[in-house]
Amino acid sequence: MHAFTFSLPTQIVFGPGTEAETGRLIVQQGGHRVLVVYGGQSAVRSGLIAKVQASLTQAGLEQDTFGGIHPNPRLFQVRDGVEKAKAMNADFILAVGGGSVIDAAKAIALGVANPETDLWDFWLRKQPVERILPVGTVLTISAAGSETSDSAVLTRDDTLEKRGLSSQLFRPRFAVMDPELTYTLPPYQIACGVVDMMMHTLDRYFTSVTDNTLTDEIAEGVLRNAVRWGKKAVSTPNDYQAMSELMWTGSISHNDLTGLGAPKDFAPHQLGHELSAKFDCAHGASLSAMWGSWAAYCWKENPSRFAQLGVKVWGFDLNGGSIEDLAQQAIMQTVDYFRSLGMPTCLSELGCPIQTEEELQELARRCTFYGARTIGSFRVLGYEDILAIYR
Ligand code: NZQ
Ligand code: ZN
Repeated sequence: MHAFTFSLPTQIVFGPGTEAETGRLIVQQGGHRVLVVYGGQSAVRSGLIAKVQASLTQAGLEQDTFGGIHPNPRLFQVRDGVEKAKAMNADFILAVGGGSVIDAAKAIALGVANPETDLWDFWLRKQPVERILPVGTVLTISAAGSETSDSAVLTRDDTLEKRGLSSQLFRPRFAVMDPELTYTLPPYQIACGVVDMMMHTLDRYFTSVTDNTLTDEIAEGVLRNAVRWGKKAVSTPNDYQAMSELMWTGSISHNDLTGLGAPKDFAPHQLGHELSAKFDCAHGASLSAMWGSWAAYCWKENPSRFAQLGVKVWGFDLNGGSIEDLAQQAIMQTVDYFRSLGMPTCLSELGCPIQTEEELQELARRCTFYGARTIGSFRVLGYEDILAIYR
């Protein structure tokens, strides 16, 4: 194992009915005045918000709500949330929802703790993250892994820049994970989640360091489990075993365990972010649309790694062909799996209304932050590479 630092301070409370413990968990973390952040209407319709509020009342907590967080959350909503939290003098932010709500809650917590700083400056890396209000989560979709991750992804509404920011302070204090809360998900969102959790692992698996065998075994196990339960979950969203396995898999895939001791790549994520920023498509769909093209462009960097994916995750026979054949079959198998979940595997299937070469060039320019960065580490990608992959 190569050197690493790993800390996971998030307390995980997993199982049916665990949302009833939310109030107690906040008290345990020293919270008194809680802003409850949620998304569109799903958590209201299901009665979850009412249940969580009852739990907070029972624990003697003051509370107010801030709903309506948009998927791919927007900066202006976060700014409104900061004002609401300040108005009630909140000392704890509770997210009830998926990655979008959790990331908005993390950003609100950061904004409240740093009233003198313009929030976007943190995402531009002009300011280090040094203090934040505590955040807790009640998870409603297995996907982004934000319930235990160190990241928050925001989109600036006027420029449509989508940016991620990582800090150990972004790890939530607790994650309430009741798999039954995900039974109400539409199959498309379940499939998006399966892709996302696979991609959080694949974006770490394709790395220049390939001799951390325990890290690899964990990553391969996570991928096999996502594949195993993904289809069942999409076809039967009220199957407890499928939904509970996916819920845990989603967290493990993005809490860093699947990549310890090696640099991350995350180029497909960066390629996808430009799509969800510009076209407001679901994050998971942006990833399935990009991965095949990214893999086809990059696999020659290390064909053995792709062949290993085929053998360890897809069950290929190691002696069933050359390393190059196995590598290419592994790419096809992965893309076929995404397709079998009903996910898009290219830009046109994603429904992006891109018609001209100029539009592709603009997308590639945006992805380099207008020349300010390259993406990826498995293969470092500049403007021409990014354009070729989009093309
Ligand atoms: O808004 P509501 O009505 O709640 O509907 C949501 C939303 O439309 C719905 N939904 C969630 N739980 C539901 C439900 N519908 C019915 N029943 C339920 N139980 O699902 C839709 C998608 O929700 P969202 O929170 O956007 O999904 P996800 O968890 O995929 O989050 C995506 C966001 O997370 C970011 C993405 O870029 C995107 O902005 N990511 C955050 C990461 C992190 N913080 O570590 C890492 C990821 O790579 C990702 O970038
Ligand atoms: Zn993701």
